[in-house]
Amino acid sequence: MDYNDILAQANDKLVSARSERELAEIKASIFGKNGTITELMKKLKDVPPEQKPQAGKAINDLRVKLAETCEQKEKQLHREKIEQALASENLDLSIDKCCAHVGAIHPINQIRKKLTDYFVGNGYIVYDSPEIETDYYNFQALNIPPDHPARDMQDTFFIGNGMLLRSQTSAGQIRLMEKHKPPLKMICPGRVFRNDDDSTHSPVFHQMEGLVVDKNVTLCDLKGALEGFAKFIFGGQTAIRFRPSYFPFTEPSVEVDVSCFNCHGKGCRVCKNTGWIEILGAGMVNRKVLENCGIDPNEYHGFAFGMGLDRIAMIQCSIDDIKLMWENDVRFIRQFR
Ligand code: PHE
Repeated sequence: MDYNDILAQANDKLVSARSERELAEIKASIFGKNGTITELMKKLKDVPPEQKPQAGKAINDLRVKLAETCEQKEKQLHREKIEQALASENLDLSIDKCCAHVGAIHPINQIRKKLTDYFVGNGYIVYDSPEIETDYYNFQALNIPPDHPARDMQDTFFIGNGMLLRSQTSAGQIRLMEKHKPPLKMICPGRVFRNDDDSTHSPVFHQMEGLVVDKNVTLCDLKGALEGFAKFIFGGQTAIRFRPSYFPFTEPSVEVDVSCFNCHGKGCRVCKNTGWIEILGAGMVNRKVLENCGIDPNEYHGFAFGMGLDRIAMIQCSIDDIKLMWENDVRFIRQFR
């Protein structure tokens, strides 16, 4: 058979391939170990010497031509494969974007995070204290003995065996001071429980306790700390005021109001026309409480404060029913994205 016939035949075979796999097989039958070209090379030894150069060149030309055909065919089959895939994989790009639900952080968690960031930035540690407490930590160590009338301020859930659901995060003060020596600077955020239920009170709510104990801590330091926090949360123009109050674990005790962020003191619906909004209780740590924790009240002084996170969230977001916070209605949550 002459070289031209071999070329034509092999070429036809390559061109007829219908898939990449088929082409690979044909390719092997031409260029492979026992392929057409290899066979021709082997036969070269039988060719008379004077014809050898010519024959060698002819085989080489043949190889180059077939390789070209092969490459073209490969490209063609690859292109066809992609076109086929594109035609069969039908993507529906018309899907409605409203189906992608983006979550929202609950307003209480938003406030909690914002406050935590603020206090941590000012050198406070975050202290986690148990929700199930003993009478001792929730009351007695805080200078509230068994028949003290102050117990009526908080309608507590007792769960038997001297245990109760903590009614205030102040219990965290005792746990911290028992374990760690001053100087101390901590906040204790968490859930608290009271048997109370109306549009502004829920049996479960959130508080954030603050405690600072060191040498030479004064009421001025308390005022400075709370002023910084109030401005951070309610805006730079916010002022605070102290009103005398009573808590068994602080002496003196104060209730703290912030100037209304809505009307700036003129009087409006948010502040019930007083210009002020009550946001927390605070005071200088009672020396009896320090003593109960083994801290010398002649050497160390401290201040403490406790605020209701739900209340702050409600004021800030104009939410008038605390139940909305617990109903898990996504229409409510979505408004706080
Ligand atoms: N524990 C008090 C309450 O729940 C708030 C408070 C905390 C007051 C710390 C003074 C100091 O009402």
